[in-house]
Amino acid sequence: MSQYTKNSPLGDGELLPDPIAQLAAWLDDAKEAGMIEPTAMALGTSVDGQPSVRIVLFKGFVGQDLSFYTNYEGRKGRELAANPRCAATFWWDRLERQVRIEGAVEKLPESLSREYFYRRPRESQIGALTSRQSAVVASREELDRRWEENAQRHAGAEVPFPSFWGGYRLVPASLEFWQGRRGRLHDRLRYTRSGANEWRIERLEP
Ligand SMILES: Cc1cc2nc3c(=O)[nH]c(=O)nc-3n(C[C@H](O)[C@H](O)[C@H](O)COP(=O)(O)O)c2cc1C
Repeated sequence: MSQYTKNSPLGDGELLPDPIAQLAAWLDDAKEAGMIEPTAMALGTSVDGQPSVRIVLFKGFVGQDLSFYTNYEGRKGRELAANPRCAATFWWDRLERQVRIEGAVEKLPESLSREYFYRRPRESQIGALTSRQSAVVASREELDRRWEENAQRHAGAEVPFPSFWGGYRLVPASLEFWQGRRGRLHDRLRYTRSGANEWRIERLEP
């Protein structure tokens, strides 16, 4: 276990009053730190008491909420349909920082999903159209064959927008900012929503 010495202490009252502005600032720091996927977050869903977790890429704020994109019919999509309450965690090793978020998702309007879909490389568009995310497939060959079929079918034309694909906004109810400190007495500051745009900040023991 390493000693965490990178950061200057996170004093009481040092974080911004708005956790979204604070998260945006830490994301900027993470992007500048040259990490491979600074926007990667672990997304936890839960149905019938069985949690499941996977990495997705944070794709920007929609108002005060965090957006990400996926297949609505894969495992996470089905789980979020059954239980929209979920949790997400960023970990930036180079910065010795973690942010934990809890809340619930809502689907983004299709217009926003379309906009994002058509900004992605064409190969990814065909991939999203082709993949039945989380379904069992007989072989890699079958997957590649279906991708090729779609690429040929739509050659020279716009890739059709897959109705089963799109974004979510994660509406945070609480966010916890963690920063490594020497001697295991790490800083933990938690924001809990106390009104529409009001947040209570509390320090937690490490
Ligand atoms: C760095 C990284 C980024 C990823 N980004 C996404 C993403 O933005 N959206 C997505 O659906 N899957 C993404 N994945 C794949 C997911 O982790 C996961 O395999 C997939 O979404 C299926 O999850 P599910 O079966 O729980 O639905 C990413 C994986 C990694 C390792």
